[in-house]
Amino acid sequence: MENGSVNHEVETASTITIKGILSVLMQNVDENNSKRLISLGMGDPTLYSCFHTSHVAAEAVVEALQSDKFNGYSPTAGLPQTRRAIAEYLSCDLAYKLSSDDVFITSGCTQAIDVALAMLARTGANILIPRPGFPIYELCATFRHLEIRYFDLLPEKGWEVDLDLVEALADQNTVGIVIINPGNPCGNVYSYQHLKKIAETAEKLKIPVVADEVYGHLVLGDNPFVPMGVFGSIVPVLTLGSLSKRWIVPGWRLGWFVINDPCGMFKNPKIIECIKKYFDILGGPATFIQAAVPRIIEQTDDGFFQKTINTLKQTLDICWDLINEIPCITCPHKPQGSMAVMIKLNVSGLEDIGDDTDFCFRLAKEESVIILPGKKQIKLDTYVQQCYHQHTSFNLCDLQMKSVYCSGVKELGSDHFCCRSTLSERSIREVKNFLQKAQQANASAILEKSKIFEHGAKPHTVYQQPLIATAIS
Ligand SMILES: Cc1ncc(COP(=O)(O)O)c(C=O)c1O
Repeated sequence: MENGSVNHEVETASTITIKGILSVLMQNVDENNSKRLISLGMGDPTLYSCFHTSHVAAEAVVEALQSDKFNGYSPTAGLPQTRRAIAEYLSCDLAYKLSSDDVFITSGCTQAIDVALAMLARTGANILIPRPGFPIYELCATFRHLEIRYFDLLPEKGWEVDLDLVEALADQNTVGIVIINPGNPCGNVYSYQHLKKIAETAEKLKIPVVADEVYGHLVLGDNPFVPMGVFGSIVPVLTLGSLSKRWIVPGWRLGWFVINDPCGMFKNPKIIECIKKYFDILGGPATFIQAAVPRIIEQTDDGFFQKTINTLKQTLDICWDLINEIPCITCPHKPQGSMAVMIKLNVSGLEDIGDDTDFCFRLAKEESVIILPGKKQIKLDTYVQQCYHQHTSFNLCDLQMKSVYCSGVKELGSDHFCCRSTLSERSIREVKNFLQKAQQANASAILEKSKIFEHGAKPHTVYQQPLIATAIS
């Protein structure tokens, strides 16, 4: 071990999900340690009693189920009334009206991500992905043989997109740019002006914007939530979303993939037909859940949303104050939305800690506290020099058990917080070997699966034809 550091390489980050790394971290928790397990890594608010969905949402699902009308298959693109309800819901924030045909119902936002990347992929193509970002994009891109090019989010500018870098990274094989707003893991909420600049840059590069708005409307600061679809007349926008976060029902798996293209720059009847065919091979959410959506959207009152926001605001403030009390960690930007925060780790102030991954493993082992290493989300590559690989992220929603959270963070803030290491050389080696084995197993499984997605070359056009369009036609 050099300089007391442990090199838990996570360089195959594109093949590992958050769940994957969490399970490796969890296995590293010392069972003989009497400290209560505090898991701050997973964005599932339903785990905490102060977060529950609205009564009307639950009633709507019960009503749909008991009606006995929704036990069959739904159309593969989704029930017409569900597509219409989502189109109307999203159109409220737009200057144009989306139609039901623009909306495809997916199994959570995760499946919408997969659809978007499958649609854009082709041999030799690359996609622009934010760093820090959400690892599912890397995983889906890897499955689709899409080259990943990372652009930086700038912490000192509220995690805005480094647009100069975006322009430098793009070439004629770039098929899209991913924007996550409100952002996970950075908690950014972009201003209208910044989103417009992103749209204009994408238009210049002739690439559509993939707008992940799974945290849509979950804003805690001054910036209002502006959907990217507002700029649909400048550049085609593929909006991805779900009920998961705003309605606190991630297990219902109700998401959407929406084409915002009022000027018809991207979509044409053939493409829509092909997307529909692609949906024929996907399983969407349960029919009765889909059937409940119109009522859920119509009847959920603002008070429900406000309560969630207030709770998140309170915990964010607690979190913010405590972060500022702890030496050797800083938060470059107070989150403005979503449920996560990025923390900067000052490794030089820590004894015997090599990097963020090392820190997270030791924290799991010594303190039974689980947080995610930023390197997992900020994988370095040759395109970008700058890195923030000492950042660490955890989710605000997991801090809702306030007493646990407070005691947890106070524990962290006490003198045994990472200023000492009780890990022996042997256990460090064990962790390292375990992680390497997990990575190897994961990488070969991905390689095996990715063979399914091989496809032929396609020439670059102004807005490139979706792969699935070319594959099916
Ligand atoms: C940025 C981002 N996109 C997509 C998802 C997946 O959403 P869903 O649970 O609806 O599949 C998540 C989940 O945490 C997320 O953080």
